[in-house]
Amino acid sequence: MDDKNTITRREFVANLAKVTAGAAILSSIPSAAHALYPNSKRRIAIVGTGHRGSGMWGKDVLQAYGDIIEIVGLCDVNKGRAETAKKLIGASCPTFTNFEEMIQTTNPETVIVTTTDGTHHTFIAKALELGCDVITEKPMTIDEDKLKIILDAQKNSKSNKIIVAHNYRYSPTRGKIKELLMQERIGRLTSVDFHWYLNVNHGADYFRRWHRLRENSGSLLNHKASHHFDLLNWWINSEPATVHAFGALEFYGKNHEYRHTNCRPCPFKEKCQFYWDMTKDKRLMDLYAANEQYDGYLRDGCVWKEDINIFDKMAEQIQYANNVQVSYSLTTYSPYEGYRIAFNGTKGRLDFWMHEKQPWPIDDFDELQITDNFGKEEYIRLPRIKTGHFGGDDSMKDKIFKNPNAPDILRQAANMREGAMAVLIGVAARKSIDTKKVISIADLSELVPQAVTPVN
Ligand SMILES: NC(=O)c1ccc[n+]([C@@H]2O[C@H](COP(=O)([O-])OP(=O)(O)OC[C@H]3O[C@@H](n4cnc5c(N)ncnc54)[C@H](O)[C@@H]3O)[C@@H](O)[C@H]2O)c1
Repeated sequence: MDDKNTITRREFVANLAKVTAGAAILSSIPSAAHALYPNSKRRIAIVGTGHRGSGMWGKDVLQAYGDIIEIVGLCDVNKGRAETAKKLIGASCPTFTNFEEMIQTTNPETVIVTTTDGTHHTFIAKALELGCDVITEKPMTIDEDKLKIILDAQKNSKSNKIIVAHNYRYSPTRGKIKELLMQERIGRLTSVDFHWYLNVNHGADYFRRWHRLRENSGSLLNHKASHHFDLLNWWINSEPATVHAFGALEFYGKNHEYRHTNCRPCPFKEKCQFYWDMTKDKRLMDLYAANEQYDGYLRDGCVWKEDINIFDKMAEQIQYANNVQVSYSLTTYSPYEGYRIAFNGTKGRLDFWMHEKQPWPIDDFDELQITDNFGKEEYIRLPRIKTGHFGGDDSMKDKIFKNPNAPDILRQAANMREGAMAVLIGVAARKSIDTKKVISIADLSELVPQAVTPVN
């Protein structure tokens, strides 16, 4: 710890009482911590300083919004990774392995949660309890017990808020789809066909890392599909009511004749098509390989490990509270990556095939096709944005940091309830696969699915 400007929590609370004397003052400031540092930039602390915490939320945020935000603390269970991240980010703040100590010492207004999925709830709840706003990576959490901890913490929190970083909503092409659906361009929406393909590179990577265990990721039904379920909830503008799912692990994991701990020392390098050489990536070597001594985490774990307990193929039917029905699937060992989606309405159909990575050349634009019943087709072309998640990351960060009060016409900002609904579909799907039953979303938490998504 080397921050000369840190103060103790006791001093903080005492000063806060002086500064916030008078409700008028309190209501005119964005947060309690800001009252203590009235002329300062927005004070941000990050917990989980891995790939996403050090990159998109760390270095990139500091570079783009350094005039209005300040990173005041970095915390990770792996102290070596927190130090590496500090260098990668270019921050000058202290690093911590204890979250509460970080908050007590650095008094952030906002905590960004970028730890492994199964740990988000702890930091969200504690940050709210300590008076911070929260920006959490998706999935907000991975099961109904952890969700309850978050819901209770939010209820007990006076005014602090949770933003769920559902960046996929912000890509311009997905925004255009939302706009067309809001305009009822295909009439009243009745059903959706949605199929997502992860390829043998990106898809396989989930089976190398911590995501391979349900207890860390809730399976890809939470970790990955929470993006897709959130898009569905947002596009359909309703909340999920029931889920019936199928899934299996029949490609990765135990389904192979040989295996090793991880790729670097693997004796099967020459013959394994899934051998991945992480030594070529200096950033990954610095973040993970150089810090294995602290937690033993192997970033290049073997995709054939026998402990893998998530599904590699998943399919489900979702019935929404407004009667829209969805057929969804997720495949994790496809030769190309992307998704196909079709929205069926009373007046026509909206089709989109998003090519993300494929062995053949593609055009430089995204193309939506609308076909009117008894009519003609119309094509809408949009420029393909190549930066972070097809433009989603930067637009979302602008909304969060630069223009938080700008009108949100497409309702792209995801709140806690929306974060919860994306999680609950995955939880229900997992339960449905395990029990072979149809699962009702209302049975999983106190949140009762609404036919129209409630506005904040
Ligand atoms: N929105 C997106 O498009 C997107 C993309 C990638 C990752 N993510 C999300 O970002 C989060 C981080 O993913 P990542 O790829 O950076 O993973 P990562 O493994 O690189 O980083 C996770 C970090 O959390 C730390 N950590 C784990 N448990 C902790 C604990 N109890 N206390 C403190 N630190 C802890 C780990 O040591 C690690 O440094 C995940 O929730 C993931 O789902 C979102």
